[in-house]
Amino acid sequence: MSATGASEISPRRVLLDCDPGHDDAIAIMLAVSDPSIDLIAVTTVAGNVTLEHTTRNALRVLDLIGRTDIPVAAGRDSPRIRDLSTAAAMHGESGLAGPLPVTPSHGPSDLTAIEMIERVLSEAAEPVTLVATGPLTNMADVVEQLPHLHHMIRELVIMGGAVDLGNWTPAAEFNIWVDPHAADIVFRSACVPGADRTGIPLTMIGLEVTHRAWLTDEHADFLRDTGDVGAFVAELLDHFVGFHQERFGWEGAPIHDAVTIAHLIDPTLITALPMNVQIETESVLCSGRTVADRWSVTGLPANALVGLDIDRDRFVTMLVDRLQRIGSAPRRVLR
Ligand code: BDR
Ligand code: CA
Repeated sequence: MSATGASEISPRRVLLDCDPGHDDAIAIMLAVSDPSIDLIAVTTVAGNVTLEHTTRNALRVLDLIGRTDIPVAAGRDSPRIRDLSTAAAMHGESGLAGPLPVTPSHGPSDLTAIEMIERVLSEAAEPVTLVATGPLTNMADVVEQLPHLHHMIRELVIMGGAVDLGNWTPAAEFNIWVDPHAADIVFRSACVPGADRTGIPLTMIGLEVTHRAWLTDEHADFLRDTGDVGAFVAELLDHFVGFHQERFGWEGAPIHDAVTIAHLIDPTLITALPMNVQIETESVLCSGRTVADRWSVTGLPANALVGLDIDRDRFVTMLVDRLQRIGSAPRRVLR
């Protein structure tokens, strides 16, 4: 602490790779809302919807929260081997069904995602945290194309996978299912955070955690009157909660991707264990499955820290509090 009592811990520098998407959009907002995080760049990937839409949505969200200073770089527009399958049925054709679509005030960077990540890592004084909340197509490029910069990755935190059931197929979670070959490359290059470093330290936040991390209509109604951002989030939730109520009969919608950022803000929120995780790429029925060795039956070394549970009440309190705060903050002037 300084003489004034202010904390001298510098914020964690984070680059977010995403496919907005309702929950990706909320993850971006959470990242900029907390002083412990410095969101230095956003990269986009095809997933929930096409790359054109995910990039436009990232720009729209940054516009809304007055952070056009954060660059957005577009990445891969399709998975490595498979054709792109989207989740437009869940997120709408635009990827952000609910609020009125608006054209962003500015465009993406001239750099591609991999060029942006290379620049960020090579210019950084300290290792940078990567967060991935879409298919891992861009992250597989990082593994293969930037081996000389892996030591500058503090850790990689992903939303993806499941120890138990999938959500897009009975066996697989959406992000891993879209591009299992990319996920395979990432998990093969990974190690457990804090262990002797033999790869990129990886934390997997899958469905065991995120299916407990939901918001309801009540949260939408609460946020609706807290400012422009709150109103926008409320309109996102009107669609997203409604979809989950109708499709699954759930009371609320899991805000999957925001859990990655919440975990960085408060690592005590989730319970996690080191495990060996391999990705199924061949099977017809089980493609995209994260085969997580929960009980160490294979004897293979752990390569990821895998989330298993979350303190939902504290997550919801954190998320609603931060979103409300952005909503009441004075808007920055757009450049
Ligand atoms: C993941 O799939 C996407 O639809 C969401 O944005 C999230 O990243 C959940 O399975
Ligand atoms: Ca996502």
